[in-house]
Amino acid sequence: MEDLEALVRQMTLEEKASLCSGATAWTTEAIARLGIPSIVVSDGPHGLRRPAEEGQLLSRSIPATCFPTASSLACSWDRDLVREIGQALGSESRALGVHVLLAPGVNMKRTPLCGRNFEYFSEDPYLAGDLAAAYIEGVQSTGVGTCLKHFAANNQETDRMTVSAEIPERVLREIYLSAFERAVQKARPWSIMCSYNRLNGTYTSQHRQLLTDVLRDEWGFEGVVISDWGAVEDRVSGLAAGLDLEMPGPSPANDARIVEAVRSGRLDERDLDRAVLRILDLVRRAHREAGSTEGLDVELHHQLARRAAAASMVLLKNQGALLPLDPARPGSVAVLGQMGVVPQFQGGGSSRVNPTKVDVPLDELREAAPQASFSYCQGYREDGAADAELLRAAVEAARAAEVALVFVGLPDGVESEGYDRRAMDLPAGHVELIKSVVEVQPRTAVVLQNGAPVSLADWVDRVPALLLAGLAGQASGGAVADLLFGEVNPSGKLAETYPARLEDNPSYLNFPGENGRVFYGEGLFIGYRYYDTKRVDPFFPFGHGLSYTTFAYGPLSLSSREMTPAGSLEVSLPITNTGERPGEEVVQLYVRPRRSRLARPVKELKGFAKVDLAPGQSKPVTFTLTIRDLSYYDPDKSGWVAEPGEYDLLVGASSRDIRGEATVRLVEGVRAEQLLDADSSIRAWLEHPAGRSTLERLLPAEVAGQFGEGPLPPFVLELPLKKLPMLSQGAVDETTVERIVAEAGQCMGRPTP
Ligand code: BGC
Repeated sequence: MEDLEALVRQMTLEEKASLCSGATAWTTEAIARLGIPSIVVSDGPHGLRRPAEEGQLLSRSIPATCFPTASSLACSWDRDLVREIGQALGSESRALGVHVLLAPGVNMKRTPLCGRNFEYFSEDPYLAGDLAAAYIEGVQSTGVGTCLKHFAANNQETDRMTVSAEIPERVLREIYLSAFERAVQKARPWSIMCSYNRLNGTYTSQHRQLLTDVLRDEWGFEGVVISDWGAVEDRVSGLAAGLDLEMPGPSPANDARIVEAVRSGRLDERDLDRAVLRILDLVRRAHREAGSTEGLDVELHHQLARRAAAASMVLLKNQGALLPLDPARPGSVAVLGQMGVVPQFQGGGSSRVNPTKVDVPLDELREAAPQASFSYCQGYREDGAADAELLRAAVEAARAAEVALVFVGLPDGVESEGYDRRAMDLPAGHVELIKSVVEVQPRTAVVLQNGAPVSLADWVDRVPALLLAGLAGQASGGAVADLLFGEVNPSGKLAETYPARLEDNPSYLNFPGENGRVFYGEGLFIGYRYYDTKRVDPFFPFGHGLSYTTFAYGPLSLSSREMTPAGSLEVSLPITNTGERPGEEVVQLYVRPRRSRLARPVKELKGFAKVDLAPGQSKPVTFTLTIRDLSYYDPDKSGWVAEPGEYDLLVGASSRDIRGEATVRLVEGVRAEQLLDADSSIRAWLEHPAGRSTLERLLPAEVAGQFGEGPLPPFVLELPLKKLPMLSQGAVDETTVERIVAEAGQCMGRPTP
């Protein structure tokens, strides 16, 4: 397979069409006559789901390492760790004969209820995009491809195959496409998977603007667009719109439709050829990179899964330094709640991994503290319901022990692909257990196993310590023991807000939609963008997480007080470990524009770093900002715009714990000049250096002169430029206004009409 174009020329129309759908559920079509082999694809994201029976859509899968789910891994805020997991997934893929891993998923967490949130990273596109890029780099460094999914706006499972996500252009660009854009541009995934849903009325599987104009023409994506399994509606318009490969296969009826459409002239054969070329390129790449494998080292990957799980868990609360427990102390510990022996560590649906082994938390705790004595009580029924007998036994055990560890969470089946949760509640039996135990045992720590926020309202104020274990994969139990007994210092931070009530969530009134449509009425204001702008207090804010040590944030220094569009800015500060233990801190950088023409959130994440420090040690942390980090998307101008002016740079330990600030001024020459047109206010024109000089040059002296003589009345300043003829009572005519706009546009680099 050298000259792919020559190969396409040798193919019959039928062969070309057949290549555009899979041969089976997990393989592409091979064409023996031309020496075209097939490739194998497999789910993702947090482990391999390679079906044991070849070609079966639903089949038991071969054991593979179940790493922490994306919702957990994101809480590590650790690009290097995510890259390492990617490499491990790549090597498992090779060992199991998989060429393309159907991962990662980078959709935004718009509501805590989305059944698939555990498969996604964050409510923030910068964090999600960067972690997805690290994941892709890791997998693809092993010669295995990735398939970034689900493109786009698949933010709920309710009616996922039919619902139309109604999202304004600006919101799409800044929130729902942004993580895809970042991952595509930073890491170049081999393929991308369109979603099931419609976007503003059109199925994404046939959305030309999405699959071609934005993805390929703007972002430069060169890989294959694959349909989600069964997402194809109209195969022919999908192909023309940019959807290359239909999965699962085979799909003879659609192959025949492609042939017929070309014959009848309804489909340009060049569109088909383009798709075929891209698929051939993927196949060639996959086989070029494929080769010898070293087999799967189960134990090594389990250890990595444990390290990753520990780095991903979040210590949400630790009053009176209840944790860590002293492993050398021969005390008594009550382990309460069935999830202490049957952990919940992944969700349901296509991402479900058949793990190579599973750590049992109770066993791991015993191993971590051999001198302590442990008791165990189930605490609640298997289905989560309360049971008076089980509860009574647990309360007695809690009373008799010196410390209680209560294991709760969302039972298997609650979080899954295919449906959303109805509420944020924990099962009643779990809540009862926490409340009853904490009444008799003040030294109680709760361990929470869940892939999306749950309601903490009834009990969070009563418990001194709370560890978010998340859905941390098969080694979750070992990681919990590492953290509770201080073998590892917690360093995870929330990648999504834990709201005080479901009703506080900004999508609450617009979820899950009705009559086949869901309006993203909250616009840009999802997650902390909403809670922080609206000053709605959550239980735990975005970016929050505690450590067993403490960190001091030193003063911020900027590489310059001013920034130009072509330049970049470095923001640095020293971070010091001021406590007794080694630890890692996640440092976050947010940008807050002082003023903006269009509404903007009060702050947005534009940098993060994880730094490890020995006690007393200090290290510099440096972030680099570019013009894009200050920009918003102006749908009227179809471009990213950063207005000149001042921007505050906030560095903090969470979105609500800002430790230092500095301000940078964005100076002339930015693309903000594109902003000025006849509808822009006179104020905007005067405030812009290029705008002002154009006015002064082209307006009659008596009008221009007024701009120099102290401030004009505010109501005049707010009028659009096009009202100058009226305002000047004829001294300025319409042609002059047009000239001003055109000439200002030229010196601003805007194409003249
Ligand atoms: C899911 C995808 C998955 C595919 C193949 C679909 O139901 O939405 O994420 O990759 O199935 O299992």
